[in-house]
Amino acid sequence: MRRPLVAGNWKMNGSRTESAALLERVKKGMSSASKAEAVVCPPYVLIPLAAEKLAGSVVVWGGQNLSAHKSGAFTGEISGPMLKDYGCTYVIVGHSERRTLYGENDALVAEKYGAAQAAKLTPILCVGETLREREANQTETVVARQLDTVIEKHGIGSFKNAVIAYEPVWAIGTGKTATPQQAQDVHRFIRSRLASRDEAVADNIRILYGGSMKGSNARELLAQPDIDGGLIGGASLQAEEFLMICRAAD
Ligand code: PGA
Repeated sequence: MRRPLVAGNWKMNGSRTESAALLERVKKGMSSASKAEAVVCPPYVLIPLAAEKLAGSVVVWGGQNLSAHKSGAFTGEISGPMLKDYGCTYVIVGHSERRTLYGENDALVAEKYGAAQAAKLTPILCVGETLREREANQTETVVARQLDTVIEKHGIGSFKNAVIAYEPVWAIGTGKTATPQQAQDVHRFIRSRLASRDEAVADNIRILYGGSMKGSNARELLAQPDIDGGLIGGASLQAEEFLMICRAAD
């Protein structure tokens, strides 16, 4: 049985005051009996606040990105061991905004995935196609390439301690959600790609859907057999919306 996971990606949003209130509300609203696991990924500077507010609760926290390196002369970067030091459990790797706005290619994403695992963090590896790629029938080719780069570098066994997020780029922050069937088709493809190397790994890995998931559409997406949770951007900034998704996943 795969434990559902709902991850909030706050992106570059939130003051200290707003974030403290949001963290309090999420913590209060999350039942300790919840079957679903909830994680919030705030901007780096708010991670200590998340650690302080969420300590002892069922909600865990993580980073949105990390350096491929452990330490050293890398101005402006934050490493896996630093995130671990602040109690992070997860870290998002290869989000499409990192890939398109910051030039992260498959090889760098694979390095970051390895850096996360080396620091004992669970990477949430993001994959997904652009609208142009979907329209050109390239969805599976693109997703396979993104996955295979990581499998080849770190081995299929590394996916025992990883989460995958399928995020069609055209659905991120656009209000356009993939239909449950569109999402399920790609999730099934991802699982079968992993299964061709190791069936147990494929059965156990959690594959999250991301792209305009919110309280009102979460239930039907999460009802799909290969959708094990969500990676939530915009809706994770409102406690009630985020909690509604967690309840739908429960
Ligand atoms: P969205 O973002 O929910 O605002 O579409 C999802 C993501 O980028 O992880």
